[in-house]
Amino acid sequence: MLIIKNRQELSDFVQSIRAKQLTLGFVPTMGALHEGHLSLIKRSIEGNQYTLCSIFVNPTQFNNPTDLEKYPRTEQEDIRKLESAGCDAVYIPGVNDLYPQGLENDFTDMGGLDSVMEGAFRPGHFQGMATVVKRLLMQAQPTRAYFGEKDFQQLQIIRKMVKDEKLPVEIIGVPIVREESGLALSSRNMRLSPDFKEKSVMIYQTLVKAKELASQLPPRQIIPIIEQIYSHSDLKLEYFTLVEEEDLRTFDDFEKGKHYRAFVAAFAGEIRLIDNIQIR
Ligand code: PAJ
Repeated sequence: MLIIKNRQELSDFVQSIRAKQLTLGFVPTMGALHEGHLSLIKRSIEGNQYTLCSIFVNPTQFNNPTDLEKYPRTEQEDIRKLESAGCDAVYIPGVNDLYPQGLENDFTDMGGLDSVMEGAFRPGHFQGMATVVKRLLMQAQPTRAYFGEKDFQQLQIIRKMVKDEKLPVEIIGVPIVREESGLALSSRNMRLSPDFKEKSVMIYQTLVKAKELASQLPPRQIIPIIEQIYSHSDLKLEYFTLVEEEDLRTFDDFEKGKHYRAFVAAFAGEIRLIDNIQIR
């Protein structure tokens, strides 16, 4: 596997892919790789002649400095996992390769997609995320880029940005990979105590419950039932909401032909976890 350490090396790599007219699949990550990330790599390998992963812990998308500082960094282990997954190349840039003018964001109009859920609780997060994703896409010039439904709001924002800015890349969403218990894989799970890890299984269970209830009840009746479950638990609920998939807005009643998802963010001790499920 080729290890690309800076922007110039990436540019040389991209030129060689273009010269050979190969399709390039791209998987941007912040490292601390697990099976969720590797499922994106697998999809990319299946759909493209060449697969590039990037590892960059993007400072501008962390609204909480402790979270940035404590973000797990496991570079050698990540390289080993990518290699055995059959990834062709990994881009591990420095801050200067993505932010040559300093740590500032490009403004992206997200049409309100960033004002709800994660956007409401993590101010600035999506502007920072969109800045780095756009710069990575422009540098890597992939045919397709792969993002997990684990961060469904992020995926929808990226889809809109790529469409609005006419970036020549196909965005592919990949289903959430879970542990057998149902807990969605996340780099943050490494920081959970065994006790909280067990307790966090309720997150997926409440999503499944909401999905069951959605066959008979409207959102205004489902949400209080789920909030009640959290109020009797050891997890601290930040939000539990049901929204329409396209515009991420809340709604009164389910309509035919549209898709809906339940979203949750909750604290297990110090660790903030998010998850979602398609309910209809
Ligand atoms: P990171 O959290 O490392 O996630 C990288 C990609 O892996 C994202 O597309 C995310 O949705 C996906 N992913 C994480 N856990 C998953 C799971 N359990 N199942 C399926 N996919 C999963 O998301 C980011 O990094 C950053 O915001 C980034 C896009 C790299 C920009 O900095």
